Amino acid sequence: MPAVVNLDGVFVAPERAAVSVFDRGFLYGDSVYEVIRTYGGRPFEEEAHLARLRHSADRIGLVPKWDVARTAREIVRTLEASRGGDRPDPAAAPWNPGERYVRVVMTRGAGEIGLDPALAVDPIALVIAQPLAGPPASAYREGVAAAIVGVRRAEPEAIDPSAKTGAHLSNVLALREARAAGAHEAFLLDARGFVTEGSSSNVFAVDRGTLRTPPLRAGILEGVTRGVVLRLAREARLPVEEVPLRPEDLEEADEVFITSTVREIVPVITLGSRAVGAGRPGPVTRELHRTFRRLAGGPPGVGPGPTPGRPGAPV
Ligand code: PDD
Repeated sequence: MPAVVNLDGVFVAPERAAVSVFDRGFLYGDSVYEVIRTYGGRPFEEEAHLARLRHSADRIGLVPKWDVARTAREIVRTLEASRGGDRPDPAAAPWNPGERYVRVVMTRGAGEIGLDPALAVDPIALVIAQPLAGPPASAYREGVAAAIVGVRRAEPEAIDPSAKTGAHLSNVLALREARAAGAHEAFLLDARGFVTEGSSSNVFAVDRGTLRTPPLRAGILEGVTRGVVLRLAREARLPVEEVPLRPEDLEEADEVFITSTVREIVPVITLGSRAVGAGRPGPVTRELHRTFRRLAGGPPGVGPGPTPGRPGAPV
């Protein structure tokens, strides 16, 4: 099943889905977006994602073409058009087959070339639904590598980090740096050297039974999955602290994990050349993932240990 593209409310074949070369999303990253996923075919935490989309648009003064109700209706239509036809993937984590990745993009539109947002006249609303390609089961069982990269997170005074905008070049370059070092995810520091977040994830550390993650004022995206994990941890009476973290807080932690819509909770077992904790997914990460899996529905988390016959599966 290829991607289903809903461009301004009209379904367009993916190979012919195109926007104007004058669109400001293309020229300047002048757009906002969300990534939503389904469980059992239904969008997960859709309200939170659409509220964040609205917030992102407000933060950059972009008037989206569709309001929240219309966006929700278009997501339903796009998901309906995207039913069936999935190719089996033996490496997939068991809760992903048949599910959908949904990307919603609102640009400020096209217009005469020029930075002035007042030049924008033709905003675009876009929904793409495609089979969800999350990390393979082995990533949950064995953990992944992360790297603290040299690219810094833009300061909150530059672009509000709570807005999920299309201006993503520093994230792209951070991930490029991490991948060159053989890592799955990049962690970005702020200008003072504090940990902010991953290139497309939030980061957590577990230290002597306490769960720690950078606070929103650290200049991060308020991840929907981060919010769910904090709620689940508090319900489980796990000590939780939203506090500034330094790189050594991650390096010396017992466990580190990342969260995102597509990845849920993925254990990080190495940071650069150093092992995190025992160098394998830790018990708090595994328990939180099991709890998350119960909430989201479907199969439980995958257990520890190597996957026979699947060494080094790509992430
Ligand atoms: N990224 N931080 C950044 C910079 C992100 O781009 C994302 C999500 C997150 C995690 O947020 P959430 O739990 O709401 O997905 C944190 C999406 C998945 C993406 O761009 O693909």
